[in-house]
Amino acid sequence: VTDRYRALADEFGTPLYVYDLDRLTQAAHDLRAALPPEAALYYSLKANPHPLLASELRVAFGACAEISSSGELAAAETGGFTGAECLYTGPAKTREEIEVAITHGVRLFSVESLADLRRVGRVAAAHGVVADCLVRANGTTGSAASIRMSGTASRFGVDADVLEAEYERFAEVPNTRLRGLHFFPLSNARHEQDLVDEFARSAATAASLSVHTGLALGILDLGGGFATPYAEPGDRPRYRTLRAGLTAALDEHLPQWRNGTPQLAFESGRYLTGDCGTLVCRVTEVKRSRGKEFTLLDAGINVLGGMSGLGRLLAGQIRPDFTDADAATTTLTGPLCTPADTWASKLSVPALHDGDLISIPNVGAYGLTASLLAFLSRPIATEVVVRGEVPIAVTRHELRSSTRIFDVPPAGQESTVSV
Ligand SMILES: Cc1ncc(COP(=O)(O)O)c(C=O)c1O
Repeated sequence: VTDRYRALADEFGTPLYVYDLDRLTQAAHDLRAALPPEAALYYSLKANPHPLLASELRVAFGACAEISSSGELAAAETGGFTGAECLYTGPAKTREEIEVAITHGVRLFSVESLADLRRVGRVAAAHGVVADCLVRANGTTGSAASIRMSGTASRFGVDADVLEAEYERFAEVPNTRLRGLHFFPLSNARHEQDLVDEFARSAATAASLSVHTGLALGILDLGGGFATPYAEPGDRPRYRTLRAGLTAALDEHLPQWRNGTPQLAFESGRYLTGDCGTLVCRVTEVKRSRGKEFTLLDAGINVLGGMSGLGRLLAGQIRPDFTDADAATTTLTGPLCTPADTWASKLSVPALHDGDLISIPNVGAYGLTASLLAFLSRPIATEVVVRGEVPIAVTRHELRSSTRIFDVPPAGQESTVSV
């Protein structure tokens, strides 16, 4: 690791997530430059709900927040967002979550089915308000991506043909106002041209749906899919042709877009925060078994890569940032009592020893909170936010380590809680 990470590890301990606001700012700048300046940019807190990262994007780039839970709403509020600056997305929102959102001033929802729209409408009615809703549309099939969410049979969104056929039922839901459409067909697109093609397809679908249903497109959220390396060395892509390709597609399908009809929006999580984050962890022990070397770390799938066990995110293996990496071949494992806690096997590494530090780059998105935080009840990794060389905040997520025991009260008595 670099001297800088060594100093931070000495000061704050390991495992340690380091988020660099200068890198975050650069990513936001690059994404803004790749998109039409008229477009609104939403930061997807699922990538990293750290309030200081969200706050930086809000203050320096005028980003809004894309949230999918009461917890993300709370994180966004801690980062300075008001409910009015949030777009609430996600399938199967519960009545309770919608209730919290409406109470906190959220008025813009992406709805993923007629039932979802009706749930939003019922809560809005109970609060005497009207909720603005974008219908998430599941358009036509598209390009390759590491994660595809629609354009196929999917739990996400409403099939475009169904929306067209049943539009009247959507339009009549009390206490909701249909303001436009939302697309989010893919995540982590492989190529820049795939993004352009996907946006063009969505714009065409939006235009056609608008003509056939009569839905006035006030807002068109084209989603995202902007890519970045994950848990391995590498550079974030710079999109040089995206803006031109996108504006050509918009000119073709939605010629009034430059006048704000529709108002365009994009969403990004990983592109914005991915490369600002590095995980620093320590080798607890290097051991051999039957001719094979194992490097045991103080961080495992409870700290990074928990979702990989579910077949998500990690195509290959976690690769630390080594300069001289051919001294040994090792299996990189975490401290958990399960063989699943393996980050990489047959990995070329420098000669490692007990106590050495290693760093994993590009883990600012889908790092800590996308991991198995509570599994084996180990302490949660510390997170430090730096601006260049200067640490500006040190935080740690808290999970309750004890279980709340809810006594079942005898009939007619109040419930009591002991801890
Ligand atoms: C609706 C929606 N918006 C935004 C995102 C963020 O994606 P990414 O982090 O790849 O930008 C996702 C990811 O699953 C999503 O489902």
